[in-house]
Amino acid sequence: MTIHLERRVEARSAPPLLATPVTAADAVAGPGSPAETACDLVIDRVAHTYRSAGGAPVEALAETSLIIPQGEFVALVGHSGCGKTTLLEIVAGLRPPTSGRVLLGGAEVVGPGRRRGVVFQQSSSLLPWRTVAGNVALGLELAHRSKAERRARVARELERVGLADFARHKVYELSGGMSQRAQIARALAGDPEVLLLDEPFSALDAFTRERLQEQLRAIWRQEGKTVLFVTHSVEEATLLATRVVVLSPRPGRVIADRQIGFTRRDLPLGQMRSDREVVGFAAELRDAIEAAGE
Ligand SMILES: Nc1ncnc2c1ncn2[C@@H]1O[C@H](COP(=O)(O)OP(=O)(O)OP(=O)(O)O)[C@@H](O)[C@H]1O
Ligand SMILES: [Mg+2]
Repeated sequence: MTIHLERRVEARSAPPLLATPVTAADAVAGPGSPAETACDLVIDRVAHTYRSAGGAPVEALAETSLIIPQGEFVALVGHSGCGKTTLLEIVAGLRPPTSGRVLLGGAEVVGPGRRRGVVFQQSSSLLPWRTVAGNVALGLELAHRSKAERRARVARELERVGLADFARHKVYELSGGMSQRAQIARALAGDPEVLLLDEPFSALDAFTRERLQEQLRAIWRQEGKTVLFVTHSVEEATLLATRVVVLSPRPGRVIADRQIGFTRRDLPLGQMRSDREVVGFAAELRDAIEAAGE
């Protein structure tokens, strides 16, 4: 699976950073189109406008279309308030778009589902009356998995995020970063095809962040999940993603959409950080984001 993914990324040409995004209408093209893959994620002309407390419309997201082929690791970046969380919540099925639709494997997303695992920006999404293990097991319980399977999966995911010793703790006993890791374990436990991660590492110390970045990369490579990953960190986006999408300031719209085909992607992240290609791409990306905010 890994080889397949890497090949696909390398096979793509590298368009200029400020490339015109493909429209979702292209995804319903004929044979051989990405839409034929079972788990492609299609964001089709999605837009969202909130109502402020005073009733005034707040256009958070302008019409946005993206086709995310199965197994792609997409980083979504842009200034604070540009609509990243809004878009992620719409893809998660937690917020209906004002217009447009989201398709996963050809089926329209109309609510939350087990095929998508979500890690929220706020760690308060954990259920406070449950233990850490109980939170991680939630999706598995809803999916009627056996007790033995639940136990095994919960233990595996808690181990992966370094929370094995906290399985029986209550959520209020966790630090912010630990809550974030518990959320990641919960998202992984259900073995979703798509991982939706909203700044999952922002509350973590540098060491834990680097360890989890490495683990996320390993999980993605081994399991071929599609990842949509919101981050403020240009470096994080560059290191982890195979494609970076930049949103403009509010109302968010795609202003850059770029595949990353680094030749030395197999390097440990520590070494990739100083790789010339990586550093150059990150600088280019930072310039594009800064220019968008001017
Ligand atoms: N419930 C809401 N009601 C009204 N406006 C909202 C609501 N939620 C978000 N907004 C507004 O929509 C815009 C986009 O918010 P969103 O949370 O999607 O941004 P973001 O890109 O995730 O920002 P950040 O990087 O700070 O997390 C912002 O201007 C925000 O003020
Ligand atoms: Mg956000």
